[in-house]
Amino acid sequence: SEEMYLHYHGLIVPKETHSYESLEFAQGFKFEDDDVLAVTYPKSGTIWMQEILPLVLNGGDLTPIHTIPNWERVPWLEEKQLARVVDKLASPRALVSHFPYNLMPPSFCTSKAKVIYVMRNPKDIMVSSYYFHQMAGFLEDPGTFDEFMDKFLEGKVMFGKWTDHVKSWRNSELGDRIMYITYEEMVQDLPASLRHISDFLGCNLTEEVIQKIAEHCSFKSMQNNNMSNFSLIPKVYMDSDKSPFLRKGEFPYLLSKVYF
Ligand code: PPS
Repeated sequence: SEEMYLHYHGLIVPKETHSYESLEFAQGFKFEDDDVLAVTYPKSGTIWMQEILPLVLNGGDLTPIHTIPNWERVPWLEEKQLARVVDKLASPRALVSHFPYNLMPPSFCTSKAKVIYVMRNPKDIMVSSYYFHQMAGFLEDPGTFDEFMDKFLEGKVMFGKWTDHVKSWRNSELGDRIMYITYEEMVQDLPASLRHISDFLGCNLTEEVIQKIAEHCSFKSMQNNNMSNFSLIPKVYMDSDKSPFLRKGEFPYLLSKVYF
């Protein structure tokens, strides 16, 4: 695992997608006031937000989601890709990040950039992550589910302990710059979630556009969108025969107030 991961301020991150340079690039990143950031603990709905944000910010225009791979369309703040695509990003820019709040760059804190923090039931995250570790060639073999669960609960997984991550953002005191939403709310009522997101970002979308966006952000549509389902990634990195990235898209556990 020393070969596969690097350590950064106590956090474990995969080397395939992150380097010290990319993590330092993130620290020096200059946020603009109209930037929009979706933050997630891994497997909580990141690529869903990479689909939603460009549609909401551009009045439902399908061009970005049909022509730009998700990792370039709404890049990760901390990943190697950002430096390569940053100058190509359309304004207002949308980014995603798995950083806990304490690793956010200084310019983020002084800007007025808005954040959507997406939370998901940790039991489902653990299951999703277990399958992801089996299919992703750049992640450690998860072993048995029980072995992986021990690691997950101890926070010895990429981006650390789920509780630390959620708490860091819950305590961020960003006032009206931050909006909290759950993966489960989005599964239960996507149009309502889109209205909530659109209002938060100050986008005036008609009901017709909301319905159109909901259709294109459905699990099925995203499974069929080659710009979003990682089918462009070579099999050695992500093997969808082992487990597709868009795996189930459900929440089998009863909704409970596990987040607060
Ligand atoms: S990552 O690796 O951190 O970027 O993964 P992330 O995108 O955060 O999480 C992947 C899970 O999100 C599910 N997903 C969706 N669910 C419902 N509807 C839509 N449109 C959708 N898009 C992605 C994806 O299927 C993964 O969850 P599981 O439980 O494994 O299916």
